Amino acid sequence: MEPKEKLLMQGIIDDLTTAIAQLENHNQFSRWTTRMLLRAAIHKAENIEKQEVQKQQEQAIAFTGYDREWLPSRATSVHTTEIYPGEVFANTADFDSGIRQLLPRYDEMLNAIAHCIPATAQRILELGCGTGELSLKILHRYPSAQIIALDYSPRMVQFAKNKIESAGYINRWKGIEADFGEWTNEPDKINIGIGFDACVSSLAIHHLTNEMKLKLFQRIRESLNRSGGFWNADPILPESDALAAVYQAMREEWAAFNGTTLAEVRAKIGKSAPHGYSHPDQLATLDNHLQMLKTAGFETVAAPWKYYGLAVFGGEVS
Ligand SMILES: C[S@@+](CC[C@H](N)C(=O)[O-])C[C@H]1O[C@@H](n2cnc3c(N)ncnc32)[C@H](O)[C@@H]1O
Repeated sequence: MEPKEKLLMQGIIDDLTTAIAQLENHNQFSRWTTRMLLRAAIHKAENIEKQEVQKQQEQAIAFTGYDREWLPSRATSVHTTEIYPGEVFANTADFDSGIRQLLPRYDEMLNAIAHCIPATAQRILELGCGTGELSLKILHRYPSAQIIALDYSPRMVQFAKNKIESAGYINRWKGIEADFGEWTNEPDKINIGIGFDACVSSLAIHHLTNEMKLKLFQRIRESLNRSGGFWNADPILPESDALAAVYQAMREEWAAFNGTTLAEVRAKIGKSAPHGYSHPDQLATLDNHLQMLKTAGFETVAAPWKYYGLAVFGGEVS
């Protein structure tokens, strides 16, 4: 326990001890004093809880750099636009440059996913397509691939659609406004069928709870053809406090290398509240992810790319 918390706890114990002593006096004044002391003790206990929640929020922000929604009071002082978890920036147009400053080696990470897709893949499902950066890389690399891309944000789907249209790939790409959590639980509601050769995702699934992640992995496993693969890029929960500090330092270094600071990039981050099945960051360790993939029935599981707190991991169906 931190010294400040210890002090508050000691204060609570002192208040309660005096309150009990007062109760033994049985007069009007002692009852009033008891009530005041109990109120003070409750107030101090609530403060400890608030500090604990705030500490967790600060850690989450420090690690991922986004999801400012964890600290709503700060967020409102900067932006008022409401966005969904995962949209990150208040203005969709800031996403492509901002994400490259916020996260090291973003393009390399997406390329790693594209490389892992089976070369013969024709029908590909993308979950949380955002502004369409991963779709573009895949459509460019595999000239006969067709992508069905889900994203629950109308702003993101529209942005991606415009970009893919300009690149001349629109006849091989279909954007669908849908929640992949809903697809997990009620697949019939989102009519995209099964029989995919690959499923890909980047920086989106970490918004689901671990329970939903496992269910989603099972849904994906059921939707893949034989020899199909699922590859996902996401921030991972640091394995220790020391590593959390290393991953964070790396992020700061990356921002400095790009001529900015994380604080400067974060100023463009929007305010969001939980939406559909997604929440602020719900990180899991890489080990935990691989375990969930095995439980979901993937025959081979692996993490072909990792850079500090970011990883590409997934599994294959034999
Ligand atoms: C950080 S962006 C990443 C976008 C893109 N994959 C990339 O790497 O550039 C995450 C995207 O996931 C979407 N998203 C988050 N949770 C979702 C859910 N439950 N269903 C559908 N889309 C979701 C957000 O709207 C956002 O577009």
